[in-house]
Amino acid sequence: MKDSYGRTIDYMRISITDRCNLRCRYCMPEGIEVIPMEDLLTFEEIVEVCTQAALLGIKKLKVTGGEPLVRRGAPSLIGMLKKIPGIEDVTLTTNGVFLKKYLNELLENGLRSVNISLDTRDEKVYQSITGRDDFSMVMEGIEAAVGAGMKVKINTVLLEQCNAEEWPGMLELARKYPVDVRFIEIMPIGMGRNYRGVSNSELIKKLKEKYPSMKKDDRIHGNGPAKYYTIPGFLGSVGVISAMHGKFCDQCNRIRMSAQGEIKPCLCYGNAVDVRKVLRSYEKKDVQRKEALCRVLEEAIIKKPQAHCFEKREEITENKKMVSIGG
Ligand code: 5AD
Ligand code: SF4
Repeated sequence: MKDSYGRTIDYMRISITDRCNLRCRYCMPEGIEVIPMEDLLTFEEIVEVCTQAALLGIKKLKVTGGEPLVRRGAPSLIGMLKKIPGIEDVTLTTNGVFLKKYLNELLENGLRSVNISLDTRDEKVYQSITGRDDFSMVMEGIEAAVGAGMKVKINTVLLEQCNAEEWPGMLELARKYPVDVRFIEIMPIGMGRNYRGVSNSELIKKLKEKYPSMKKDDRIHGNGPAKYYTIPGFLGSVGVISAMHGKFCDQCNRIRMSAQGEIKPCLCYGNAVDVRKVLRSYEKKDVQRKEALCRVLEEAIIKKPQAHCFEKREEITENKKMVSIGG
C-alpha cells in the first residue's frame, strides 16, 4: 500500500518483547520496568496482524525486541510468519548472545538472514556499554551463523563517549567474514538523547583515509536505507545508516509494531494505532474483526509523516525507550 506521500510501504518491523538480557546504556537502563506478559500480543495475535498486513502489501517482516530470543518460542514464531501468504522474507535482529544456542531451531524455521547488534570488539568496552560479560557468546553466535551459511549483518552504533574509536576493530569482521558491518548513527530517542553519536560523514572520511581503494557498492543488500562500500580484500561490505546526517525519509518503506500491538507510523513521533484493542474487542469469528484490523493498519500507513524531525529535538514526540520500540 502507498502512504500519503506516495511511498510504498512493504516492510514491517515487529517487536515481540520489550525484555532484554543486556542493558545497553543508550537503549535500556538498569531498573527499567517491563510490560506484563498478558499485555504482549500472543504469537497467534502477531500472526493474525501480519496476515492482514500482508494483504495490504507488507512483504517483509523483521522480528526485533528488546531481545527477541529471550521470548520463549521465538524461532517457532519465525516459522509461523514465514508461512503467511504474501510474506517473502522474515529476518531477525538480535544482540547475538543466544544466537548459537537457538541457531539450529532458527534454521529449521527457515531463518536465512540475521542482523546482530555489536558495538565493539573489546571485551571491556563491551562490558561498559552492555553492562554484561557476554562478548565471547556474541562472537560465537556470529561465527556459528556465518558457518551455517546465514546472511549476517552486524549493526554498530558509535558513541563519542564510549566506542568512537572501535570502528577499525569492527571493520576487521568484514575483512575476515562475509558479513556486512554497518554503522548506525544514534538517534535522539529514549536514552539515545543523552549521547552524542559519531557522524557517518566523518566516519566515511576516516575510512577513505585508511582504505583509499574503498568503493561505493550499489548492489542491493537488504530492505533499508544503508549505503554500502567495498574494500578490496574484504569478504564483506561496509555500510552506513545515517538517519541524522543523511535523512532518508523520502525512501521510507516501513511501519513498526510494538510488543503490545501499537503500530507506529514513524520512529520520531509518539502517535500510534492500537491493534491489540481491536484483537481483544472483537470475537474471533466476528466478520468485522478482519475489517477493523485492516482499517487500523491502513490508518497507521496513512498517518506516516513526510519525515522525522530529529534535528529539531523539541518537536520529537516519542518518549518511549528504544528497547520497547525495537530500533
Ligand atoms: N539510535 C540508533 N540506534 C539505536 N539502537 C538502540 N537505540 C538506538 C538509538 N537511539 C540500535 C541498537 C541495535 C538496534 C536494535 O537498535 O544498537 O543495533
Ligand atoms: Fe538489548 Fe539491543 Fe537494547 Fe542492547 S541495544 S539493551 S541488546 S535491545
